[in-house]
Amino acid sequence: MVSNSHSSSNKSIERLISRRALKMGNSAPCKTWALGFFCGICIVYLFGVALPPIHILMIRLVHPPLPRAILWNSTSAESGGATETDDLSVLQEKIETVTISENIDEAGEMHLYNAWSSLLDTTRDEVSKSSDLPRPPHLENCRLNWERNKKFDSYGVNGTFPPWTLWKGSLGLQLFNQNYSEERKKMYFRSDAKSDMPPYPPWIEGSDEENYPLTRQVQRDVWIHQHPPNCSDTSLRFLYADWERLPGFGIGAQLAGMSGLLAIAIKEKRILVTGYYNRADHNGCKGLARSSWSCYFLPETSADCRKRASDLMQSKDSWSNGIIKVKENYTSKQIWAGHIPRVWGRPWKYMQPTTEINDRLVINHRKMDRRWWIAQAVRYLMRFQSEYMCRLLNVARHSAFGMQAAKLVLENVPDTPKTSNSRAESDIERLVWSEHKPYIPRPLLSMHVRMGDKACEMELIGFEKYMELAGHLRERFPSLKNEVIDKTKLHPQWNFYFTNVTRQDVNVSMAMYEASLGRETSTNYPLVNFIMATEADFFIGALGSTWCYLIDGMRNTAGKVMSGYLSVNKDRFWYD
Ligand SMILES: *[C@@H]1O[C@H](CO)[C@@H](O)[C@H](O)[C@H]1NC(C)=O
Ligand SMILES: *[C@@H]1O[C@H](CO)[C@@H](O)[C@H](O)[C@H]1NC(C)=O
Ligand SMILES: *[C@@H]1O[C@H](CO)[C@@H](O)[C@H](O)[C@H]1NC(C)=O
Ligand SMILES: *[C@@H]1O[C@H](CO)[C@@H](O)[C@H](O)[C@H]1NC(C)=O
Ligand SMILES: *[C@@H]1O[C@H](CO)[C@@H](O)[C@H](O)[C@H]1NC(C)=O
Ligand SMILES: *[C@@H]1O[C@H](CO)[C@@H](O)[C@H](O)[C@H]1NC(C)=O
Ligand SMILES: *[C@@H]1O[C@H](CO)[C@@H](O)[C@H](O)[C@H]1NC(C)=O
Repeated sequence: MVSNSHSSSNKSIERLISRRALKMGNSAPCKTWALGFFCGICIVYLFGVALPPIHILMIRLVHPPLPRAILWNSTSAESGGATETDDLSVLQEKIETVTISENIDEAGEMHLYNAWSSLLDTTRDEVSKSSDLPRPPHLENCRLNWERNKKFDSYGVNGTFPPWTLWKGSLGLQLFNQNYSEERKKMYFRSDAKSDMPPYPPWIEGSDEENYPLTRQVQRDVWIHQHPPNCSDTSLRFLYADWERLPGFGIGAQLAGMSGLLAIAIKEKRILVTGYYNRADHNGCKGLARSSWSCYFLPETSADCRKRASDLMQSKDSWSNGIIKVKENYTSKQIWAGHIPRVWGRPWKYMQPTTEINDRLVINHRKMDRRWWIAQAVRYLMRFQSEYMCRLLNVARHSAFGMQAAKLVLENVPDTPKTSNSRAESDIERLVWSEHKPYIPRPLLSMHVRMGDKACEMELIGFEKYMELAGHLRERFPSLKNEVIDKTKLHPQWNFYFTNVTRQDVNVSMAMYEASLGRETSTNYPLVNFIMATEADFFIGALGSTWCYLIDGMRNTAGKVMSGYLSVNKDRFWYD
C-alpha cells in the first residue's frame, strides 16, 4: 500500500526532494508554473466512518465503561436502582445479537456487494430498477440524472427559459409542468429577473452564506451568457479554444487555462466554445463526446452555438472581422494572468477567511480575485456531470464504500428484497428524495498528498503533517473517529480509502507517469478523485498545488465554505 511506503518516507527524503526542487528551479517544467499553472495528479486518501445512528448506539453499548455507566445511571434513576441486573442482561443480549448478526452477515454482505458489482458492468445501469436486489444506496441512476440535467441545461420547446425553480431537481420539473398561475410563473421562471432574484441555477448547493460571494448570480449570468436564445443571431461573437495539450499541462492546468479564456470571453462578450480535449481522446468517450469536454461534463455552451462556431471557423471573413477568435489570438499573459471580469463588482473583497495555514486563518492574500474567479469558472464548466462521469463515480463509490453500504442495507433493511424493490416508486421517492446525494460514509475527510515531480512546484510536505492536521480536525469533530481498526500500520485509528491506481514515483515526470497509465485511466481517476474530494465533508490539502487550489474552489461553490480548508502550505500567491 502506498500510504505505507509514503508515510515511511522520512525527513531525509523530503530534504532531498526539496534540494532537487531547488536545482530544478531553472529547468523547463518549473518555468511553466512560474508563468502560470502546472499541475496534474495528486494522491487522494479518503477516509471516515460509516456509523448510522443505530449503529452508533450499538457500539456505545459494546464499549465499556463510560457509556455503560451512563446507560445504567439513567435507567436506575427511573426505576429506583432496582433493575441493575436486568439492564445488564439486556445489554448482554444486545451485544450478542450484534456479534452473531455480524458473523452471519459477512457472507451476505459479500454476496450483495458482488451482485451490485454486476449491475455496474451493464451498459444500461438502470440501477434502481434492477430486479430482485435491494436498492444500492451508494449508486446513482445515471441515465435519469443525465436526462434531468439536460432539461435544466437547455431552453424549452418554445424557447422558454430552463425550468429553474425554487424547488430542487425533479420536484421542480414536475411542478413546472403543472398548471401554475401566470403570476407564479413570473415570480419563479422568468429569465429577465433582476440579478439578485430567482431563478437560481440548480447546480449550486448550500445557502449563499456557504458559498463564495455572488456564486448563484454569477453562475446564472455565465450560463445565460453562454446560452444565447438564438445562436444564429449575426451579432454574436465567439471564442473558439482547444484545451491546452502540451504534455506538461495536467488536468488542473488545463482547467485553469480554460478559466482564463472564459474570463476573456465574458469581458469581450464572446461565447466560449471549447475544442479538442486530448484527455477525452480515448475509447471510453463515445460518439460526439470523443475528444470533447462533453465526455465528462455537459458542454460549456449549446449544441447550436457549437455548430455555429465551427461554421464560422470555416469562413475567412469571420476570422478577419473578428467575429470569431481563437486561443492563438491572445497572449499567454492575457490567458493566464488577465483581469478578472468586473461585471459583478469585486465580490472577492468580502470573501470569508476560512483557510487555515500554520494554525492561522488567512484573512487576506494576493490574487484573491483570481481565486474567486477560477472557482466560478471551474464550477460552471463542471456544473452537470455526463452519464459517463456519473458511472465512473458509481464505480469509485462502489469499490470504496460498497461493502459498507451492503452492511448497512442488510442490517437496517430487513424486508426481503423482492417486496422492497419491485413496487413502483412513490412520488416522494421519485420527486423529493431523488435529490439526496448517494450514500458515502460521513463525516468524510479528504486529503490530497502530493508526490512525484510536483517538487518543482513547491516543497513537498511530509505525510505526517497531513495526519497532524487530521488529528486536529478530529479533536473538534470526534465522529471522524473510526471504530474499525485499519491495517494501515502507522495510523491504525483511521480508515483509508483510495482509488486503486499505481502511484507516481518520485523520479517519474507527470507526463511519463500519465503515459504509463494510459490516457483513459490517467484522466478518469483524477477526475473521480476531484469530484469525491469536492463532496467530502472536510478537506486537507496543499494550496500550493493547482489541483488542490481547484478543489478548494469547487468546495467553495458547493456549500462547503464553512467546513474550512486546512492547508499544509501556502498558495504561491500568498503573503503574510
Ligand atoms: C452514576 O450514579 C452514581 C451514583 O448515583 C454517581 O456517583 C455517578 O457519578 C453517576 N455516573 C454518571 C456518569 O452520571
Ligand atoms: C409553443 O407555441 C405554439 C404556438 O404558439 C403553441 O401552440 C404550443 O402549445 C407551445 N408549446 C408549448 C410547450 O408551450
Ligand atoms: C389552468 O389554468 C387555466 C387558466 O388559469 C384555468 O382556466 C384552467 O382551469 C386550469 N386547469 C387546471 C387543470 O387547473
Ligand atoms: C435566429 O436568428 C436568425 C438570424 O438573425 C434568424 O434568421 C432566425 O429567424 C432566428 N430564429 C429564431 C427562432 O428567432
Ligand atoms: C486571429 O489569429 C488569426 C491567425 O491565427 C488571424 O488570421 C486573425 O486575423 C486573428 N484575428 C484577430 C482579430 O486578430
Ligand atoms: C488494484 O489493482 C491491481 C492491479 O491493477 C489488482 O491486482 C488489485 O487486486 C486491485 N486491488 C483492489 C483492492 O481492487
Ligand atoms: C527511480 O529511481 C529508482 C532509484 O534510483 C530506480 O530504481 C528506478 O528505476 C527509477 N525509476 C525510473 C522510472 O527512472
